[in-house]
Amino acid sequence: MPDKSIESVLQETRIFNPPSAKDVGGPNWLIASLDQYKKMYKESIDHPESFWANIANDFHWFKKWDTVLEWNAPDAKWFSGGTTNVCYNCVDRQVDSGHGNDPAIIWEGEPVSDTGTPTDQRTLTYKDLQTEVSKLANVLKSKGITKGDIVTIYMGMVPELAIAMLACARIGAPHSVIFGGFSAQAIADRVSDAKSKIILTCDGSWRRGKIVPLKKNVDDAIKTMANDSPVEHVLCLGRCHNDISWGKLDCCWKEETEKASADCPCEELESEDMLFLLYTSGSTGKPKGIVHTTAGYMIFTATTAKYTFNLVPHDQGGNQTFWCTADCGWITGHSYIVYGLLPNRVPTLMYEGGPDHPTPARFWQIVDRHKVTQFYTAPTAIRAFMKWGDQHPESADLSSLQVLGTVGEPINPEAWMWYRNKIGRGVCPIVDTYWQTETGGHIITPLPGATPTKPGSCTLPMFGIDAAVCDEAGNVAKENVGGLMTIRKPWPAMLRGVYGDRQRFINTYWSTVSKDGQPYYAAGDNTRRDELGNFWIMGRTDDVINVSGHRLGTMEVESALVSHESVVEAAVVGMPHEIKGTGVAAFITPAPGFEASDELKQALRAHVAKEIGAIAKPDLIRFTGALPKTRSGKIMRRLLRSIAAGDTNITQDMSTLEDLSVVAKLSEKDER
Ligand code: WT7
Repeated sequence: MPDKSIESVLQETRIFNPPSAKDVGGPNWLIASLDQYKKMYKESIDHPESFWANIANDFHWFKKWDTVLEWNAPDAKWFSGGTTNVCYNCVDRQVDSGHGNDPAIIWEGEPVSDTGTPTDQRTLTYKDLQTEVSKLANVLKSKGITKGDIVTIYMGMVPELAIAMLACARIGAPHSVIFGGFSAQAIADRVSDAKSKIILTCDGSWRRGKIVPLKKNVDDAIKTMANDSPVEHVLCLGRCHNDISWGKLDCCWKEETEKASADCPCEELESEDMLFLLYTSGSTGKPKGIVHTTAGYMIFTATTAKYTFNLVPHDQGGNQTFWCTADCGWITGHSYIVYGLLPNRVPTLMYEGGPDHPTPARFWQIVDRHKVTQFYTAPTAIRAFMKWGDQHPESADLSSLQVLGTVGEPINPEAWMWYRNKIGRGVCPIVDTYWQTETGGHIITPLPGATPTKPGSCTLPMFGIDAAVCDEAGNVAKENVGGLMTIRKPWPAMLRGVYGDRQRFINTYWSTVSKDGQPYYAAGDNTRRDELGNFWIMGRTDDVINVSGHRLGTMEVESALVSHESVVEAAVVGMPHEIKGTGVAAFITPAPGFEASDELKQALRAHVAKEIGAIAKPDLIRFTGALPKTRSGKIMRRLLRSIAAGDTNITQDMSTLEDLSVVAKLSEKDER
């Protein structure tokens, strides 16, 4: 997070009351006052079972549940005994109720013609989706995929990515979507852990006018796994028509789906059957596969999407198009492009490419072209837009916008104000949504028609979320006193485990805070509540950093670095970065025979990109004879953080070997 200016501190104390629905040109607010929110929130906490049962009644069930909640900490079972299907609730249900011809997914590809108009645009209705999803589901079946088999998806942002997720949900095969920016090695790690028999991919994906070679990365990942590879099939979609090699595992998406039947009934699944796995970084070791299950996740994401963004289907007076700019490779894309949106029957927009291609006005042209009503993005993107200049948003008509959302990292008040004034016409409410891969959906967020907002605060808890600022003994902190972000009761979309690692699940989330022998969920963030009860997120409690809203384990980057022949030891810490919020700083002790040089820096950056992906590339590399350590041998991370933060010119290339032990001696006292 960039350093706080006086202006920023002043803005944090300003309160913005929600506008009337008319002021933003939208349908009535679903929750139209703070009192209404408070009443409903209290009900959800005092009587969670009836609260969620009422909501669950609005979904399609093959068989109704017997019990709403079985809670045996840390294990929750929601809607036990019930059977349902997420794909049915997203797609078939809309077709069956006469909305088959309504737009479900609106897609824009990145390439544009000479006149700047996008060359690739598609709208899929619920009926189209039903056909495409059923065909692909039949292809999966024909490849031997059955209920419980984990399907890896590594694709660009094309409609077929959402189709692939829904096809998996249709047949009860959990998916594991890997972000298209991850490297071959990262794919190999995830595919081996999940033991996927099949990978769904594309030849390539468009990003800033270039082709990301997705199929090649998959080929390399399979080579890396060699004899240990569990992969039997690679189903490849032609998107960019770049050259690819074709091996004996490969099969063609188009050919296979063309000959497949469009009839594939939805599998009747248990509420607690696994819906997907999503890998995310932790403070130690390899990324962990977060497990989400069927009914609770579906109900919570659809409900939070509805209230946070005020989603109203067109036949009930809404005329909305929702756009979340995230990639489906992250939880934000799972929950707020696909699963939370489709059950609400508001069209969801997917965009393939970069925000500044061919110009930094691209996002605003998309808003204008499709009359987007809800826009959801990350603070890092907002800061980039601020830097690119106001002329870009000013060149487009943004008057369709009703609600603006942010997610992924704390938003600095300057960016919040700019977002409100330049994008939101000074009137659209901003919903700063705080949540995690593990929580499945929003846990702290304003509701646009109800919650007074303060720039930089994610404000109040979502329905059903018993959030508190606690110490380790579960005592609630006083007003404005920092503590651990804790959730004291189970909620429907909570993670059900870490795939294949029960102990890590318990250690990471359920061993930090407990009261009277009852473990509470510890989110891994520091937070405080102000005098109005608003939450302010103050950063991670672990060695996880948040780079451009993407979670990265510093240990992960360190192990990538030490796997390079030139590195003896590496320490990675976060540092303030103007656009990314947090940048990656690496302190490195080179191996004998390797000179500290700019060439070596470049080589190490490239190596990290190869091991993890471009998002993990260090912004700052400093070479040191030895890493500063305490007498007991622990790396002095706090010292490294302040050295990294003090370096105002982050692009400076100072390649000589430094002696940090001197600084270490000076700081050892306060480091302990
Ligand atoms: C971590 C979760 C949730 C989807 C994107 C990131 C940070 C997330 C906010 C926010 C302050 C935030 C937290 C959290 N974070 N949203 N609105 N304000 N911090 O998901 O990769 O699982 O990362 O992102 O540190 O723990 P994720």
